[in-house]
This record gives sequence, structure tokens and C-alpha cells, in this order.
Amino acid sequence: QRILMLAPEVAPFKKVGGLADVVSALSKSLVALGHDVRILMPRYTEMQAFEGAQALERPLIVRLGGHEAYGRIWQHCLPGTEVPCYFIEHNQYFGAASVYVGPSGNEDDNGQRFTFLSRAAIDFCEQMDWIPDVVHAHDWPCALTSVYMNTTEARRPMGRAASVFTIHNLEHHGWFHRSLLQFSGLPESVFRSDGLESMGELNMLKGGLYHATKITTVSPTYAREIQTPDGGCGLNALLRFRSPDLIGVLNGVDLDEWNPQTDPYIGTHFSAQDLSGKAAVKARLQQAYGLEVNPQRPLFTVVSRLVNQKGLDLLAACCERLMSEMQIQIAVLGTGEPNLEYRFNELSARYPGRLGAYIGFNNELAHLTIAGADCFLMPSRFEPCGLGQMYAMRYGAVPVVRATGGLIDTVAPFVEGAGVGTGFVFQQASADALYYTIGWACATYYDRPEEFKQLQQNGMAGDYSWNASAKKYESIYNWAITSRQAAFV
Ligand code: ADP
Ligand code: GLC
Repeated sequence: QRILMLAPEVAPFKKVGGLADVVSALSKSLVALGHDVRILMPRYTEMQAFEGAQALERPLIVRLGGHEAYGRIWQHCLPGTEVPCYFIEHNQYFGAASVYVGPSGNEDDNGQRFTFLSRAAIDFCEQMDWIPDVVHAHDWPCALTSVYMNTTEARRPMGRAASVFTIHNLEHHGWFHRSLLQFSGLPESVFRSDGLESMGELNMLKGGLYHATKITTVSPTYAREIQTPDGGCGLNALLRFRSPDLIGVLNGVDLDEWNPQTDPYIGTHFSAQDLSGKAAVKARLQQAYGLEVNPQRPLFTVVSRLVNQKGLDLLAACCERLMSEMQIQIAVLGTGEPNLEYRFNELSARYPGRLGAYIGFNNELAHLTIAGADCFLMPSRFEPCGLGQMYAMRYGAVPVVRATGGLIDTVAPFVEGAGVGTGFVFQQASADALYYTIGWACATYYDRPEEFKQLQQNGMAGDYSWNASAKKYESIYNWAITSRQAAFV
């Protein structure tokens, strides 16, 4: 199959969260299965691993409402692979380092920026003379592509190509003033309540969910949650309506990148059979955060966007109690909401040697912070899949997670005395529940070290590869192609 992957971020070139990891790892696995996959994303400034990229001579002409915009296409391979990646250069829209705030510094521009990206996908295929069987688009910034593919003018060049749309996070809709419709060149007919319109404005995600041939999300539990009023972010009725075309496929992880036996960022290597090297990694991690280098202290870490979804305000709210009542250490790597950044900086100044915070985005430090940890914290309010807990289990860091979304599908609850489970799981999104669960993990670490080790080894023995999930996507593409063909008969 010919598959165009369209995404706003792709690792390692540009990464804000897990979406970037998923697009590159899934593409790699699909190529290994024999598919012709091409990735298309914007060219931002300060991209990783971009040296050696080549610009194509011919400009890309993107047809928007009543005007054409010109972009330039760059080409490069996904590092270490032969997966071709194409980057759209357009300085006004993408000439900044940030993915979700354009060069103007104003998020209102995102409407135009991502409409341009969604439309560019179609013009790219036509002008490269490469018409895919499936366009696989990720999250709201790419949602308009499937709307374009259902309107006459853009449908023509794409032939019978089907669209698959993946929801990585239903919270963000891409909601803009209705004048964006004119800019997009989409016909008035798609601006309706069973389409792009939402309370008089244009909702990109909603339109994409109506128009995509098939919809996927990143775990089976999240696929169910988003069809309920609690998890549906206002789109639950639409998702129930589309439920015959909606399926949850669990993300995998890139086993080459997240491997305790070869990871270049952690100094010493280890494995499930021989965990001894992990002590040196823990010491290095303690040093990196200015913590007391002490092999005895259980070390709990966080690597996360600091946003409401992740529930880290619950951690901040119980840190004082944790520090006064338990002999533990905490290390936090993250960036996001300024008040949370401030809280963790403040806590780290208050508890030197016991609580460390690094505010920023740092991939190398992320590897170390996961690899050296005894426990990895994800008290998420909701979590479509979550990759952090799987990375953690690969490195023998026992996850402490709230029972939601993909965390339910990937972390097996520890049952004391039974030798089963891979992590500590709690139900309520409250500081108390988190506090008591950290207490449980701490007690297990100190009082029942054999059981704690068993948990580490159970986690390390898990299969987090993309093998099974890539095959599921393969059959979803077939399913989408068949439905799309049927629509033309
Ligand atoms: P989400 O996509 O919602 O942020 P995931 O758990 O799916 O959550 O993926 C998060 C990814 O982003 C992981 O690869 C994690 O290591 C990485 N990450 C998050 N914050 C940082 C940071 N501050 N520095 C480096 N990597 C980070
Ligand atoms: C989103 C979700 C996260 C998921 C990631 C990759 O950012 O918040 O749970 O793992 O996408 O699918």
C-alpha cells in the first residue's frame, strides 16, 4: 500500500509529545511490512537531524480559497532508515521553532497554518505524481485533509484514496472563526452541524471526524472513553455516531531507541537478566538533579508535559507531605504551564538533595530520568495511550499510574503476594490517592524488595513492540480502502 503520513510533529525532527514518536515508529514498522510510506510535515526552524536534507527544485503550489500559496519541499530520510520524509517550508506559517505557535507568536494563526498544511498534503501528492491509497492524518492540525478529500475539487486528483484519521488527544479541537472557511477554499456545504460547524465557528477536529473514512485512536480503553460524556470533550455524540468506523489501536514503542542494553544516553547498560548496571544509572541521575547520591533511596521520576491532563498538580499538592513523611527522592523533567513550572522549581529549592526539577525539553535527560528511576509517575487525569509508562517498564522503572485510558491497557495492577502486575495503579484523580499510592510503592521498595524486583522484571518482560499494532493499521488501511471504493460504486 502507498501511505501518506501527515503530522504536525515527527521525531526526531521535531517533537512536543508522544505523537511525534508514534508517527516515526509506526512508519518504520509499516515500511518493514513492505509498504510505501512517505511522511509529510512542516519544516520548522531548529529541527533535529535535518543536516543533509535536500530542497526539491519545483515549488509546491498550495491551492487555497481564491489564492495560491507557494511552499518549498525538502526531502530527507528518517534517521537510520530509508523512510522518505518531506518537509514543507513556508516561512510565514512555519518559520519558527515552535510547532503550535507560529512566527507571529499568536495562536490564532494556527487556523491558517494548519489549513495550509492539510491542503498542502493534497497538492503535494498531485504535484509529486504520487497518489497514495491512504492518507493517514494525525490530530486536529491535519484534520481538514479528509474534508478536502470529500469535496469535489480536491477529490479529483486524489482519486479513490481513503483517509484514516488518528485521535491522539481529543482535548484539542482547532476551533477558529468561520472566516477560515473562505481562506480554506472549502465549499459552504461542509460548514454545517454534521460537518465543520460548531456553535457558529469552524471546528477542524469535528470536520475531520465526520469526513475521515476510518477513525482510530491510540488505545482500546480511550476509544470507549471518548464515546462517553465524561471523556468525549463535547464530541461524544459524534463519536458514538461514527463508532462503527472507530477503533482503538495501542501504540507501541521504538525498541531500538528505548533499549536499556544499548541506550547511548545512560552511561551504563543493563537488562532484565542482569539489573546490576541500573545502580550506576541511578547514581548518574541523582547527580544530574543535584540529589543525594544514595542507592538506598527510592527515586520517583516524571518526564512530562506540565499540563492539566497529566495530573502533576496533584503531585505538587502532596510533595510536602511526601517529603516530610517518606524517605524518597523525586526528579521532575518537564515544561508547560508556567504555574506548574514555578511550583516544581520552588519545591526543588525547598528540598535540596531530595527533590530536583529540570524545566525544559531535553531528550537525552529524558532517557536518563526514565532509565535510572525506581518508579515512574503518571497520575494522568486522562491518557489516550501514554508512552512514558512503556518506556519506564522497558528500563525496570515501575510505573505509578492512574487507571485511565491507555494506562489501563498497558500497566497490569500489582497484586501483593501474588507476584503479578507491572505497576502501582490507583483510581481517583486526587492528591490523596496519589500520596497513598506512592506510599505503597515506597513500602514495597523498602519492605518487600523481592516483590519490587519481580515487578521490575515483569515490566521488562513485556512486549511493547509495534509488531502487532502495525499489522492492525495495515488491516485498517485495507478496511478504509474497501469502504472508500464502495462509496464510489
Ligand atoms: P504526551 O504525548 O501526551 O505528551 P506520551 O507519554 O505519549 O504523552 O509521550 C510523551 C513523550 O514526550 C515521551 O517520549 C516523553 O519522554 C517525551 N517528553 C515529554 N516531556 C519531555 C521533556 N520535557 N523533555 C524530553 N522529553 C519529553
Ligand atoms: C497524545 C496523548 C498520549 C499518547 C500520544 C501518542 O499526546 O496525550 O497519551 O501516547 O498522543 O499517541
